[in-house]
Amino acid sequence: MFSSVNPARPGEVVGEFPEHSATDVDEAVAASAEAQKAWARVPVPERAERIAAVGEVLAARKAEMAALVSREAGKVLLEAGGDVQEAIDMAAYIAGQGRAAWGTTHPSELGDKLAWTTRHPVGVVGMITPWNFPVAIPSWKCFPALLAGNGMVLKPSEHAPACAEAFVDACVESGIPADLIRLVHGHAEPAKALATHPGVRAVSFTGSVPTGRKVAEAAMATGPRLVSLELGGKNAMVVLPDADLELAADGALFGAFGTAGQRCTSTSRLVVHHEVADQLVKVVADRAAALKIGDPLAPGTDVGPVIDRAALERIGRMVGEAVDEGAEVVTGGEPVEVDGCEGGTFFRPTVLRGVRPEHMIATTEVFGPVLSVVEVGGLEEALDVVNGVPYGLSAAVYTRDINAALRAVAEIDTGIVYVNAPTIGAEIHLPFGGTKHTGNGFREAGMRGLEQFSEVKTVYVDYSGRLQRAQIDNRPPLS
Ligand code: UN1
Repeated sequence: MFSSVNPARPGEVVGEFPEHSATDVDEAVAASAEAQKAWARVPVPERAERIAAVGEVLAARKAEMAALVSREAGKVLLEAGGDVQEAIDMAAYIAGQGRAAWGTTHPSELGDKLAWTTRHPVGVVGMITPWNFPVAIPSWKCFPALLAGNGMVLKPSEHAPACAEAFVDACVESGIPADLIRLVHGHAEPAKALATHPGVRAVSFTGSVPTGRKVAEAAMATGPRLVSLELGGKNAMVVLPDADLELAADGALFGAFGTAGQRCTSTSRLVVHHEVADQLVKVVADRAAALKIGDPLAPGTDVGPVIDRAALERIGRMVGEAVDEGAEVVTGGEPVEVDGCEGGTFFRPTVLRGVRPEHMIATTEVFGPVLSVVEVGGLEEALDVVNGVPYGLSAAVYTRDINAALRAVAEIDTGIVYVNAPTIGAEIHLPFGGTKHTGNGFREAGMRGLEQFSEVKTVYVDYSGRLQRAQIDNRPPLS
């Protein structure tokens, strides 16, 4: 067994969970495969209605589940509610897709012949999910996978097993067969067993780049498999001299310190023009210093804890290395104790100035409340800085100049670009994902979210009653 604890008060155990073994994973995959056979025969609109019912249960339990997210993952209550709301929205969206077009039809190059495409389930999907969106991310994976007719085995982060249980309970109580959506808990062993299981046809992973690489390599080493990766980011916000600086400060604060900087979409680089750097950095740093750090469940808290002591130490070490590289701590830069939160892993919202684009702190994901300010002399230089990292998830540009904004949209190499809005806050009906090391070409959410969970089947029907050869019988004979 292992315990999941409240990161704001690590002495408070949220739940005890079994450390599952490879044998447990075998059992879960076999059960899900059996259940999937019947599920694949359920008409798609009926699958959709069951998913809609899950959405209703989640909506009825929103407050209770948000409190659980807050206790287990350390998210402030408002954002924990957003996490559950993403799952409610995803249920509604995916349920709607149950009556949408499911493929394409095409003219055939031959007479008396039909051609179309349809979707086909993959089989059993192995899902490995992080703790930072402990309800939303399971929903991004499970709802489209269910709609497409799959079974699934979900291995949530060891930091958020209770949230995953609450999500799966809502599914099962709403009529999703219990064996279709199975949970396994624990650390690396069940994750590895799931990714390499011969009965798992697709693996869907969200987490860090190093772990994602290991998962993908292990999955492919034991057989070709559909592997989708949603990995890290090093998201930049560009602020040009003509921008509304108050608006940019609002965006930087929410983007960098929302979820204590622990979103893959968090703003971790503020790429600002020299002309407005002093003014903007002062506003952002003053407001960062005034954010209320504390118990995420308490009303009025702006910034909760980071997930555990290892994260707290990593963030502190990275800030120390940044200072060694020449950065200056404008505000924050250290852990902080909070009254009533004994042993809580809190780190002060941190703004670093004097960061060069090539510094470690400007190129490596921190996953904590640290914003590095990189100064530039113009749009071209800003775009080079934005694109000069191995990641490509989200970016933002603040300007009132439509030409500059659209040039940035065209040239930024990320999966998501915002204009005059922060790098976080993606909506569930649009594709979500990134370029370069952030992913491997898949997108979650939106209609593209179904692709990783379904195979396209191409169907030809010849009703001519004779052999018709494509590329041959519709062409004049060679002379
Ligand atoms: C993540 O951090 O893994 O756009 C996902 C956002 C959220 C999702 C973030 N809707 O910030």
